Amino acid sequence: MARGKFITFEGGEGSGKSTQASHLVTHLGGQGIETVLTREPGGVPFAERLRELILAKKPATPITEFLLFAAARCEHIAELIEPVLSLGQWVVCDRYIDSTRVYQGRLAGIDADLISVVEAQTVAPNFPDLTFILDVNPRIGLARAEARGELSRYDAASDEAHATLRQGFLDIAAAEPNRCVVVDGSEDEMEIARQIAAVVDRRLLGQA
Ligand SMILES: Nc1ncnc2c1ncn2[C@@H]1O[C@H](COP(=O)(O)OP(=O)(O)O)[C@@H](O)[C@H]1O
Ligand SMILES: [Mg+2]
Repeated sequence: MARGKFITFEGGEGSGKSTQASHLVTHLGGQGIETVLTREPGGVPFAERLRELILAKKPATPITEFLLFAAARCEHIAELIEPVLSLGQWVVCDRYIDSTRVYQGRLAGIDADLISVVEAQTVAPNFPDLTFILDVNPRIGLARAEARGELSRYDAASDEAHATLRQGFLDIAAAEPNRCVVVDGSEDEMEIARQIAAVVDRRLLGQA
C-alpha cells in the first residue's frame, strides 16, 4: 500500500490555519481520500496534556519549552502520524515543525543547528510532503483570533515579535519551495480553500 501524504498548515494566530485545514480535509474526502485532521502541540492524549501545560504557563527557559514541544511531537508522530501514513491514509496537521523553527528558533533564540539535530533524530522521516504558509498582516490575524476569544500567551508579543514570526515563515517558504506554498490569508475564505485544493490536486494527486 502506498504511504499517505502529509500536509501541514503554518502561520500566525488568526491566519486561517484551522479553517483551511478543515476545508482541505473536506476536499480530500470528496476525492475519496481518507484523511486524519490533527494539530500541534497535541494530537494524541499524552501530547495534549503537554499542550495544556505549555500553553498555561511560560517555562523558566526557552530550552524547556523547546524540549517539551519536541517531546509532544515524538508522541504525536509515534502514536498517530506515522501509523496513519503507513496505513495509506493522509494526515493534515495544524502547525508542525515550522512553528518550532519560528517561535522557538527565530523568536526565543534556540540555536538553529540544535533544532535541525532534534528534527533529524525525532521528526525524520516524517517531514511534510506539502506545507501551506498562511500569510497575513498580524494585526488582521490577531483581530480575528481575538474576535473568537482564541488568543494565547504567544499572541501578547510585541508588533516587532509578530513581524519576526511572519518573516520567519516567509524565509522558510523561500528556502524550501518544493515543500512550502505561501497563501495570502487576507483573501476570502472560500477563495483560499479553492487555491489550496488546486495546489494539492496538482502537486500530490498529479491532476492538471
Ligand atoms: N479568509 C478569512 N477571512 C476572514 N476571516 C477568516 C478567514 N479565515 C478564517 N477566518 C476567521 O478568523 C478566525 C481565525 O481563523 P482560524 O482558522 O481559527 O485561524 P488560526 O487557526 O490560524 O488561528 C476564525 O473566526 C475564522 O472564522
Ligand atoms: Mg487555529
